[in-house]
Amino acid sequence: MGLRPLHFCFLERHTLQAIVIRAGRLSFDFDDILFFHTYFLNMASKNSYRIASVPGDGIGTEVVSATIQVVEKLAKTLGTFKIDFEHIPWGTEYYKQTGRYVSEDYLDTLRKYDAVLFGAVGSPDVPDHISLWGLLLAIRGPLQLYANVRPVRTFPGTKCPLNTATDGIDWMLVRENSEGEYAGQGGRSHVGQQWEVATEVAVFTRVGVERIMRFAFETARSRPRKLLTVVTKSNSMRNGMVLWDEVAATVANDFPDVKWDKMLVDAMTVRMVAKPGSIDTIVGTNLHMDILSDLAAALAGSIGVAPSSNLDPTRKNPSLFEPVHGSAFDITGKGVANPVATFWSAAEMLIWIGEKDAASKLMGCVERVCAAGILTPDLGGTSDTQGVVDAVCLEVEKLG
Ligand SMILES: NC(=O)c1ccc[n+]([C@@H]2O[C@H](COP(=O)([O-])OP(=O)(O)OC[C@H]3O[C@@H](n4cnc5c(N)ncnc54)[C@H](O)[C@@H]3O)[C@@H](O)[C@H]2O)c1
Repeated sequence: MGLRPLHFCFLERHTLQAIVIRAGRLSFDFDDILFFHTYFLNMASKNSYRIASVPGDGIGTEVVSATIQVVEKLAKTLGTFKIDFEHIPWGTEYYKQTGRYVSEDYLDTLRKYDAVLFGAVGSPDVPDHISLWGLLLAIRGPLQLYANVRPVRTFPGTKCPLNTATDGIDWMLVRENSEGEYAGQGGRSHVGQQWEVATEVAVFTRVGVERIMRFAFETARSRPRKLLTVVTKSNSMRNGMVLWDEVAATVANDFPDVKWDKMLVDAMTVRMVAKPGSIDTIVGTNLHMDILSDLAAALAGSIGVAPSSNLDPTRKNPSLFEPVHGSAFDITGKGVANPVATFWSAAEMLIWIGEKDAASKLMGCVERVCAAGILTPDLGGTSDTQGVVDAVCLEVEKLG
């Protein structure tokens, strides 16, 4: 009996051969029984996850499908966890058929999953505020996914357009994701008249600001440089943004090991371009970080590599993972969308659900593919989406 049972447990192909050989025999010895016992115990205890896949619109469908191929290949190759993606057809087509972007019981539907992998929402023939509020913003607020985390890093093989960033960029952006300028408060009166009025009211609550500040300080503390910049606009916004600053200063007292500073959002754009090395973790409001994260993505090489996590840090609700980009009307259907942002979002999802090792292996594969120059056109390459998927899958196979 040369083969020991435990050797099989994480090698799916060899395990299968062993099962066939052992099951084909007429009698079983102690080692065989131990083998079957260990194998089935391992199968039963293997981490197993159900993920809601909501590809949405435009290139969202392309990058989510690309990512599912890669993550399923990873799970099969490593054999250390199981993952099932269940397709949910919400988006503009669903809206055209039903009059809604999501089903009526959509929050209960999502709560049945361990996490959500999201593509993008937005279509040229539906106003953007209808599509965004109909789907993505209808999820973020009610599920209290209040922390939007956006890591930004220059990948091997990709070019940072800044000559001021000699070592590339490695930032962590934290965006308040449940209130602020995107609270949805306001209204319009006298529509169409000369004297028409429209208000867009930004809402800042002490609870909302405090929880995102704590999250940001904790994030900064977990990174080697322990450095946080609080982005504000309290010179001209004299109510909500002043509360924002005051809460930041109070929360900072609980994090004496984190060095922090405060910066007006306009000056922050200059700092990101002129002094990128002075930045590590950034926290800002819903609107400010929406804008700054697109700038950060462009500085890292392309919006096509920028991931994001919409987290409920209390873990009462499933968190949602998505690329920063939208549905990209100009390249939809051309097969050239960069899938890296969604790969990276899926890696962040794996970390969140407890598969840190698998996530780091996945990112290693993606980085090796980028370093080899297998890139989509947004990064100056000539590969298409499927070319990048195939190259990453080949790298994943080497992990087996
Ligand atoms: N999270 C979301 O679902 C989300 C985010 C942003 C915009 N949107 C929606 O998407 C639609 C289009 O918005 P937009 O044009 O302002 O932003 P966008 O992110 O869709 O596209 C901006 C530019 O970046 C390029 N780009 C984006 N992702 C890319 C990728 N993966 N690979 C290569 N190039 C990529 C596009 O081709 C385009 O030139 C609108 O309806 C908008 O409301 C949705």
